[in-house]
Amino acid sequence: MRILILGGDGYLGWPTALRFSRRGHEVHLVDNYLRRRLLAADGTDSLTPIAGDLGARVAAWEQVSGRRITFTEGDLLDWDVTRSVFASFRPDAVVHYGELPSAPYSMRGRQECVLTQHNNVVGTLNVLWAMEEIVPEAHLIKLGTMGEYGTPNISIEEGFIEIAHEGRRDLLPYPKQPGSLYHCSKVHDSTNIHFACRVWGLRATDLNQGVVYGISTDECDLDERLVTRFDYDETFGTALNRFCVQAVIGHPLTVYGRGGQTRGFLNIRDTLRCVELAAENPPEPGEYRVFNQFTESFSVVELAELVQRAGKEIGLEVRIEPIDNPRVEEEEHYYNAKHTRLLDLGLEPHLLSETLVEDMLERIRRYQDRVIEDAIMPRTRWRPRG
Ligand SMILES: NC(=O)c1ccc[n+]([C@@H]2O[C@H](COP(=O)([O-])OP(=O)(O)OC[C@H]3O[C@@H](n4cnc5c(N)ncnc54)[C@H](O)[C@@H]3O)[C@@H](O)[C@H]2O)c1
Repeated sequence: MRILILGGDGYLGWPTALRFSRRGHEVHLVDNYLRRRLLAADGTDSLTPIAGDLGARVAAWEQVSGRRITFTEGDLLDWDVTRSVFASFRPDAVVHYGELPSAPYSMRGRQECVLTQHNNVVGTLNVLWAMEEIVPEAHLIKLGTMGEYGTPNISIEEGFIEIAHEGRRDLLPYPKQPGSLYHCSKVHDSTNIHFACRVWGLRATDLNQGVVYGISTDECDLDERLVTRFDYDETFGTALNRFCVQAVIGHPLTVYGRGGQTRGFLNIRDTLRCVELAAENPPEPGEYRVFNQFTESFSVVELAELVQRAGKEIGLEVRIEPIDNPRVEEEEHYYNAKHTRLLDLGLEPHLLSETLVEDMLERIRRYQDRVIEDAIMPRTRWRPRG
């Protein structure tokens, strides 16, 4: 297959590219280094040292594997760039990771919020228009998030829910209550993608992904130069990645509020497998399908306790220190999200309890002298004047 990976320099995009390339697919990447630039502007950096720009990264991959990955350094917001990438590469599948993924960043202020929504919504619109014009048969695999649903007091279905109303029934998009203005951008994307499938006949899989953790993948582990980025700062780090870094450097685990917030999680290896399963099993033309992409649910306190126990196994003394919750969210709530469609396609999950020590804590220890402690504590509040 010819696979276009948008956001190919990112935490998930880079390892996804290596996996597809290793399996013999033709891979092209697009990235404008937005993530790197925003981290640098905040005075922080990936825990793992990145081998250089995309040119250096794909050269390292070619040396290690003998396989070639091509790339474009460019912005999806630039229509000429997006159009010409689609016209020259003519992908069979498009894996779209190329967005700004930070809830705190989108809540920092007007400028950051507008940047997030403009980047994500307009970038995805350009992708949809390029597909409609150039490769209408191609399959869009788009990364959404479980955070699109929020935490309703009923079970969360995979994208659609059957509703009975005044004696009539219909299968309708599941109601969305996103938890940040970043999550709102994902909801807007979902609406636009669904529309493009219904009206233009495109085919798309919207992967409502949980929170990803981990550094290790089969390909990234082949050579130090192939490692993916790993962020732990308040803005771009995800909860579990941050807890693990905190455990290793002896910083208390910062549980926000009462810590009953429950979310779906998955290992980075499972992200790659899910995307591969979606690519191998495309939907019909005109079909918009949604998979809830996570493997296990944990509350924030449960996560912290798991990290504490795993730390103990390797001699780390880990303290848990709840702090004032900077977010506006339910701290105790019902959570039952369905996630069977990827399992039905053959996903075999890696479980957190089995990977925490070796895949996370031990790996993080190797880079612990690179940790920038100032970047960890939350500064962004959901109510700016609250
Ligand atoms: N990591 C997670 O836990 C997680 C969970 C749920 C959903 N997601 C989604 O998965 C996707 C990938 O996440 P990630 O953690 O790898 O993020 P990331 O920031 O590491 O990767 C995204 C990449 O896209 C690039 N990019 C952003 N805007 C672009 C533009 N306009 N043009 C070209 N490139 C652009 C960035 O420079 C970055 O390299 C995101 O859409 C994110 O919302 C991630």
